[in-house]
Amino acid sequence: MKRVVLVLLPAFVAVVLSGPLCAAEDAAPTAPAPTITLPPPDLVGTMTLEQALAQRRSVRQYADASVTLPQLSQLLWAAQGITEPSRRLRTAPSAMASYPLRLYVFAGNVSDLAAGVYLYLPQEHKLQLVVEGDQRANAGTQPQIRNAPVLFLFTADITAMSQRVDTARARDWAMIEAGHAAQNLLLEEVALGLVGVPMAGYDAVKIRTLLKLPDSEEPIYIVSAAKRGG
Ligand SMILES: Cc1cc2nc3c(=O)[nH]c(=O)nc-3n(C[C@H](O)[C@H](O)[C@H](O)COP(=O)(O)O)c2cc1C
Repeated sequence: MKRVVLVLLPAFVAVVLSGPLCAAEDAAPTAPAPTITLPPPDLVGTMTLEQALAQRRSVRQYADASVTLPQLSQLLWAAQGITEPSRRLRTAPSAMASYPLRLYVFAGNVSDLAAGVYLYLPQEHKLQLVVEGDQRANAGTQPQIRNAPVLFLFTADITAMSQRVDTARARDWAMIEAGHAAQNLLLEEVALGLVGVPMAGYDAVKIRTLLKLPDSEEPIYIVSAAKRGG
């Protein structure tokens, strides 16, 4: 383990010193698509971090109830929101501040939001429509994918990061980053009185086709959000 750290560290330090890379969002297609402005996040909350950590559990049975737009906004902010605008830094850490993640919302039952797949735009705290209609069934076959009112899909585009480190390492780092962001999201769910589960068992082929993902963009992780049921 020590050997690995010693090998990785110089490359990491070198790239950190040479400054942030272009975020995946910056490379997103610029074709005009409808955008939705999200309510601003609540920066106070009502639960301690320790309470959220103690209560977090993977839950797969959901009430037939909608998630609200302010809740959705809060969850997106927790996962990938901007916390230091001058340096475009986010809630979750990122190797070389490269931000390879993209965060999509599969909205099936979100109040005041038409069903569809949306891309989160962290800089503007907005959603951009990608595909209209309820697409949850295209995300996978697990019941908790189909039943959750809303799903979050993390993808990664390591193109920018791969200019500084080799592809395998860039991919590893993107996976680690997705773990950070997903845990933020899961803890925020607890803080909002919601439940969910992180999932690596999704239908990558259908997702790729549905979202017309380029080869450079890889689905990584899905997180559900819902009111507890059962
Ligand atoms: C990388 C990863 C992938 C997972 N994939 C799935 C999945 O596809 N479906 C599912 O129901 N749970 C999935 N889980 C959730 C685990 O089953 C769950 O975290 C584990 O049982 C421990 O329970 P807890 O989350 O309540 O602590 C995944 C968890 C991780 C970390």
